[in-house]
Amino acid sequence: MSFPDIRPRRLRRTPAIRRLVEETRVAPSELILPLFLKEGITEPRPISSLPGVVQHTRESLLKAAHEAVSAGVGGLMLYGVPDNANKDETGSAGLDPEGILNVGLRDLRAELGDDTVIMGDVCVDEFTTHGHCGVLAADGSVDNDATLEIYARMAVAQAEAGAHMVGPSGMMDGQVGVIRKALDAAGHQDIGILAYSAKYAGAFYGPFREAVESTLQGDRRQYQQDPPNLRDALREVDLDVAEGADIVMIKPALPYLDVIAAIRERVAVPVAAYQVSGEYAMVEAAAANGWLDRERVIMESLTSIKRAGAQIILTYWAVEAAQLLRERY
Ligand code: PBG
Repeated sequence: MSFPDIRPRRLRRTPAIRRLVEETRVAPSELILPLFLKEGITEPRPISSLPGVVQHTRESLLKAAHEAVSAGVGGLMLYGVPDNANKDETGSAGLDPEGILNVGLRDLRAELGDDTVIMGDVCVDEFTTHGHCGVLAADGSVDNDATLEIYARMAVAQAEAGAHMVGPSGMMDGQVGVIRKALDAAGHQDIGILAYSAKYAGAFYGPFREAVESTLQGDRRQYQQDPPNLRDALREVDLDVAEGADIVMIKPALPYLDVIAAIRERVAVPVAAYQVSGEYAMVEAAAANGWLDRERVIMESLTSIKRAGAQIILTYWAVEAAQLLRERY
C-alpha cells in the first residue's frame, strides 16, 4: 500500500483555508437586476412562473430600484409591459417618449441619477401585437432591415429618457452598428451598448413571456441562435465588437457555460451572461418542493457563471444574492 505525497485535501480542511484559496468570488456590483414595469396598474402584480418577481407600478419600481442600489447591485435592466391597447404591428409604443419603458427609464434616472447603471431593453417584442422582436415582412418573417431603423430610434429615445446603456436583444443582423451610429448622430456618444450578442432560441424564456404578457405565436428560431452551435456565437460576438458593442452578453447562462468561456478568451470587452427566467424558475420550483437548498444553488450557479468567464451577470436574484454575498465576505 502506498500513500500519496501530495494531498489536495489539505486546502479544503477548514472554512478559513477554503476561503483563503477561493478562486472565484461574485461581487454585488457585478450583478444586474432585470425589472418589469407594467402600464396602468396600481398594485404590483406577481408573475406566477417567476415567484418573487413582479410587474411593477411606477411607484413600486422606484422602491425596488432603491432596494437594489442599497444592496450594492451594479445595474438595472428595465423592460416595459404596455397596455394591450398600445401594442401595434411595429411596436411604436417602444419609441414614444411617453411609452411605458421610456417613462420608467426617466423615473429611474430622475430618482437615482448616476448611483447605478440604468439600462433599457431595445427590442419590440413587448410592444408588438404579434410578439416578434421586429416588424413583419409580407411573408410573415421578421424583416431585418426595416427593424433596424426602429431599433435605432428606440435606442435614441431611451438615451433621451436617461438610460446610461442600451441593451439590443432582438438578434437582428447589424443592430449594434446601426444603434451606435444613431446614438452618435444624436449626440449620445457616451451612451453604451450592452449587446445581447449570443442569444439562443431555446426553451428557457418561458416565464419571461408571462412577465411581459407576450403574444408570440410560434418561435424565434429564424433570428435567435440554434442551441447546438458555438461557432455561430463567436461570429456574432466578433461582429458586435466590430460594430461597437461595449459589453457582450451570452444568454441563457448555465446551459451555455462553454460559450461564455470561449467568448471570454476571444474578446477584450467585458463579458456578461443572462441567467434567464427559466433558470430562475427551475430552482424556485425545486426549492419550493424541498428538493434543493435554494440559497446554496443560487450562489453556486452564479459562481459557476462567473468562473466560466462572465464578469457581469443579469439575474432575478440580484438583490438577494448581493445581500448573501455581503454576509459572506
Ligand atoms: C426580448 C427578451 C427576451 C428575454 C430578454 N429580452 C425574450 C425572448 O427573447 O423571447 C428573456 C429573458 C428571460 O427569459 O429571463 N425582449
